[in-house]
Formats: sequence, structure tokens, C-alpha cells
Amino acid sequence: MTMNKIIHFKLDGVDCQAEKGQYILDAAAANGIWIPSLCNMKGIKPHGSCRICTVKVNGRPMTACTTPVVEGMVVESNTEELNDQRKQILEMLFVEGNHFCPACERSGNCELQALVYRFRVAVPRFAFQFPVRNLDASNPRLIKDHNRCILCKRCIRGIKDKEGRNLFAFRRRGHKVEISLDPELAGSLTDEQAQKAMDICPVGALIRKEKGFDVPIGKRTYDKKPIGSEVEQPTVNE
Ligand code: FES
Repeated sequence: MTMNKIIHFKLDGVDCQAEKGQYILDAAAANGIWIPSLCNMKGIKPHGSCRICTVKVNGRPMTACTTPVVEGMVVESNTEELNDQRKQILEMLFVEGNHFCPACERSGNCELQALVYRFRVAVPRFAFQFPVRNLDASNPRLIKDHNRCILCKRCIRGIKDKEGRNLFAFRRRGHKVEISLDPELAGSLTDEQAQKAMDICPVGALIRKEKGFDVPIGKRTYDKKPIGSEVEQPTVNE
């Protein structure tokens, strides 16, 4: 960091520094402060869709993953109001899909599950919808389980082939929208791409075939420490 690029802001009453242009979420992490996030992933352009990272900037709600720090900004994040809103979003995500953690290969490595524990979601305040959704196991390397997809778009934004073409896209509209794998490119999906898709997915919606439970439940990332206990965002490996 060169001195002339450093700007100052306040986060939950703490004096913080940021590089000019740095997003609030990243600047907070650089100052050792965790702001919860879900659709965001280091290495992928931020999208601002899940709203879990919503903070108040000078009193107005803004997404921390897409809002750059400005000199003198006053940011609130860890407040009762914002944390309850985050909890509500998590509850909505949970009731809107079919998330049966004990039967999921991502249990213990799932960001949604980890956030739900961290925000102490016990009984959601919304009614479970139990939507009827498909599981697509037609690809030889990857299973798509639409029951668990939270439509964060991380796979769409983060997985491209050598020519820069997206492997994933949304199809259908409204409540029927779902992730689809390009039918032409799907046939040439490599093991590496399948693994990357699984790693990018924050939940268990993309599962690599013929490989699972390498790390037993109980010894996985969030079994060992709660999400946010180390201020680092999940990173996508190039
Ligand atoms: Fe910022 Fe999802 S992490 S909107």
C-alpha cells in the first residue's frame, strides 16, 4: 500500500484504512473485521445479489461487496438490526429450497449451513415451501442438485473454458429459474472444471461424481471453526 492511496473510514466505531477503490467487504477483512457474505467470492467479480453483506453506509443500506470505500465513510455492520436482516435472508434461502444437511456431501463445508449456524437459525419464521425440483446427474463428471441451489451465480461468473465462454447459465424465469450447464461444453467438462465448480458452489448444488466424503464429516472446514472466525473470504483457485 503506498501512502497516497490510503483512505480512512470507520467501521462499527473502529478507525480503519483502505486502498482507494477497495470494496467495503475486502477493506473490512484487511482490517481484521468480518462482514458476512455468500454470493461473493474472492477472485470473482462481485455481484451483490444475496444481500447478506448489507451494511449501513452513512445510515443507508448498501452491499459491502460492491460498494467501494470513500474517504470519511461511516459504516455499521455488526448491529442487531442488520444481523436480524441477515438471519431473515438465511431463513428465506433455507425455506425456499430443500436443504437436508445430514444427507449432503457439502455438510461441514457449506457456507449456507455455516452461516445458518453462526446466526443461530433454529426454526425459520417463514413457512417451508418444499419445492419440487430435479436432480440432474446426466453429466459424467458433475451432479447438479437444484434442490440446494441458491442462485448466487458463482458458477456462472467463475467457470469459463479456455476461450472465455461461460459453462453455466441461468435458464427459465421467475421462481422456475435454474442453473444450466451448456449442453455443448458439458461433454468436454474436465475433472478439474468439475472440481472447480464444486469448490465455487457455496452449497451442495454442484457435486463432483465419483469422489466424495474424502474428509469425514466432523473434520471439515466449518466443523473445526465457525464461519467468519478467521477473516478470509473463500477464494477461487485459478
Ligand atoms: Fe454481498 Fe451477496 S455477498 S450481496
